[in-house]
Amino acid sequence: MNFKAMSLISAVALALPTFGAADPVDDQLVINEDIEIVTKTTAAPHLEGHLDEVMSGWLFRSDSTRDMERDDFDNPGMIFAEQGAEIWNTADGTEGKSCADCHGAPEDMAGVRAVYPKWNEAAGEVRTLQMQINDCRENRMGAKAWGYDKGGSMPMEALLASVSRGLPVNVEIDGPAKETWEKGKEIYYTRYGQLELSCANCHEENYGNMIRADHLSQGQINGFPTYRLKNTKLNGSHSRFKGCIRDTRAETFNPGSPEFVALELYVASRGNGLSVEGPSVRN
Ligand code: HEC
Ligand code: HEC
Repeated sequence: MNFKAMSLISAVALALPTFGAADPVDDQLVINEDIEIVTKTTAAPHLEGHLDEVMSGWLFRSDSTRDMERDDFDNPGMIFAEQGAEIWNTADGTEGKSCADCHGAPEDMAGVRAVYPKWNEAAGEVRTLQMQINDCRENRMGAKAWGYDKGGSMPMEALLASVSRGLPVNVEIDGPAKETWEKGKEIYYTRYGQLELSCANCHEENYGNMIRADHLSQGQINGFPTYRLKNTKLNGSHSRFKGCIRDTRAETFNPGSPEFVALELYVASRGNGLSVEGPSVRN
C-alpha cells in the first residue's frame, strides 16, 4: 500500500478496522447468456496520465452481488425497468399522450443512454437523460416533471439503460459540451469537506484498496441507475455523488444541479468504452 492510500485510510477509517489492497476480480459479465458487457477496457485518450484502464464497479463487488447481474430474473433493478415499461405505455398530461405514442417501442431508444449527458442545440445546454425526459413530459405531453432521481425518473432511466446494455458509453466531450465537461472535471479534482478529499483521491488514486469494509472502485457510472442492496431501491448517479461528497463531511450539491450535471458528463466520459450496464446491482 502506498503512502497516499495509508493517509487516506487513516483519515477516513477513524477507529474502524481496515484491510489492505485487494485487486478487482478477473471475471466476465454476460447477461442472460446473451449480452456481453465490457467491464474493463483501455482508458479514453483524455485520461492519459490519470488512468490506463477503466473498470466497471461490477469487478469490485462480491461474488454473490456480481452473480445477481448475470440474469434479469436475479436482478432486482429489472423490476423497476418493468415499471418503466408500464409508464412508457401510459398516457399522461393534458395532451393525452404516452412516450410510446411518439417514440414507439422502448427498444427504439437503444443507444440513447450511451450518449447522455448530451448537448442540446435548441436549448443551448448539456442535458442529462432525466432532463430530456422531463422536457418531453412538460413540453410535449403537458405533464408534470418528475423530481430528480425520484418518482418516475428512476424506473424510466432503468428502462432506457436496459435497452442499451452492451453498447459502449460514448459521450461527446468536445464542441459545445466542452465547457460543461471542463467544469465537471474541475469538481472531480476539488478536495471537499473536513477530510479534504476529492473524487480522484478515492476513485483514481485508491481504487482497488479497501476503505472501511468497502472495496473502492473507480466510481464509474456506466452501471447507473444502480440497485443497492443497502437501501433496496434504484439509485441515480447524482444521489451517489451526493452521498460520496457527504462522506467527506462537506455540504454538497443537489441532484439535478448544474454542478452535478457537469460532473455526470465528466464522470460518464471517464467510462467511455465501457458497456452500458444499468440497472446494475451494488452493495
Ligand atoms: C408528443 C411527442 C413526444 C412524447 C409524448 C414524448 N416525446 Fe420524447 N421526444 C420527442 C421529440 C420530438 C424529441 C426530439 C426533440 C429534441 O431533440 O429536442 C424527443 C426526444 C426524446 C429523447 C432524446 C432522444 C435522443 O436521441 O437524444 C428521449 C430520451 C425521450 N424523448 C424520452 C421520452 C420519454 C421517456 C417520454 C415519455 C415520458 C417521451 N419522450 C415522450 C417527442 C415526444
Ligand atoms: C472517501 C472516499 C470517497 C470519495 C472522496 C468519493 N467516493 Fe465515490 N465511493 C466511495 C466508496 C467507498 C464507494 C462504494 C464502493 C465503490 O463502488 O467504489 C463509492 C462509490 C461511488 C460510485 C458508485 C460506483 C458504482 O459502480 O456503482 C460512484 C459513481 C462514485 N462513488 C462517484 C464519486 C464521485 C463523482 C466523487 C466526487 C464527488 C466521489 N465518488 C467521491 C468512496 C468515495
